Amino acid sequence: MNKPFGMLAELTYACPLHCPYCSNPLNLADYREELTMAEWQRVMMEARSLGVLQLHLSGGEPLQRRDLVELVASARELGLYTNLITSALGLSPRRAEQLKTAGLDHVQISIQADEPALSDRIAGTPSYGHKIAAVRLVKELGWPLTLNVVLHRHNIDRIGSILDLAEELGADRIELANTQYYGWAWYNRAALLPSRVQLDQAEAVVRAARQRLERKMQIIYVVPDYYSRYPKPCMGGWGQQQLTVTPNGDVLPCPAAHALKLPRATVREHSLAWIWEESPLFQRFRGTEWMPEPCRSCERREVDFGGCRCQAFQLTGDAARTDPVCHLSPDHRLVAGAVEAANAGAEAIAPERLVPRASTDRRVETTAM
Ligand code: SF4
Ligand code: FES
Repeated sequence: MNKPFGMLAELTYACPLHCPYCSNPLNLADYREELTMAEWQRVMMEARSLGVLQLHLSGGEPLQRRDLVELVASARELGLYTNLITSALGLSPRRAEQLKTAGLDHVQISIQADEPALSDRIAGTPSYGHKIAAVRLVKELGWPLTLNVVLHRHNIDRIGSILDLAEELGADRIELANTQYYGWAWYNRAALLPSRVQLDQAEAVVRAARQRLERKMQIIYVVPDYYSRYPKPCMGGWGQQQLTVTPNGDVLPCPAAHALKLPRATVREHSLAWIWEESPLFQRFRGTEWMPEPCRSCERREVDFGGCRCQAFQLTGDAARTDPVCHLSPDHRLVAGAVEAANAGAEAIAPERLVPRASTDRRVETTAM
């Protein structure tokens, strides 16, 4: 059995933003009993013993945890590489200095668009100005910086200006990831899915930018799997490389697996090692034994592992089916139908009509710079 390489610590689902593509669960109120600092310290220690090297601190908005600095310092003491994935709301100069002193290694900041009004509309709150100021602060403090941009129908046409902004801000890396349809994004799928024409134009812009910026900025472009012939090898395989711990201590093979009807595994009842090695949840889709046809006899079964279990569940109600993104899946029409609708223009809904993620802002600290 492989060792987990990375752990995504979803510290809290509290968040000041309302992005309509948020992958957090819809039932946010069920996650209020957050792990204490002592519990996180135990989990991080167990993760390190299990082989985890990279700790991704996420949420919601991880800066809404008042004890984030202490948590980073503990992770650093254990020898974990720490990466903060944030909207940057709550990253005041004082907090940034504290995180730097605590040993935070890397910062990823999300932006919604290059244009303030559109960015604020997608985020559901005025935030663009603060994000840009926070990006400059991160650069001043000498952190390596990644910008994350979730792409969808309402911002993908601005990909060229988004790349220009990232270059101007001095980002070391930009992740342009087309929306994955889980959580709130699933709810808003019809209004978020781009058209084929939009995608073709975006890909041409990315190709040109990669050539131009080869030595300056790494550009990661995550294609929308609805338009692919084959599914993505989700998480590098179920329970193979990564694990996620939710704010209340549930442990999952991927951040979206909370929706699947599988036995729960929590650090409040079991060790992380038991959960990784023996829990029914992590065993369920490991390897290839569980696979139905056409995956079972397919030569790509150890390339994409039958695709994404959460997507199979989302679309068919059965997590053990072939991911319907695959053109060989008997359920492929479920994806093809959504793509057809996106290209007919019937679902081109104005951004104002997207359903925003529910409000969970905790207002830990003023965001004034
Ligand atoms: Fe992958 Fe299954 Fe499709 Fe083969 S049939 S390409 S293993 S999803
Ligand atoms: Fe859960 Fe793909 S997101 S397996």
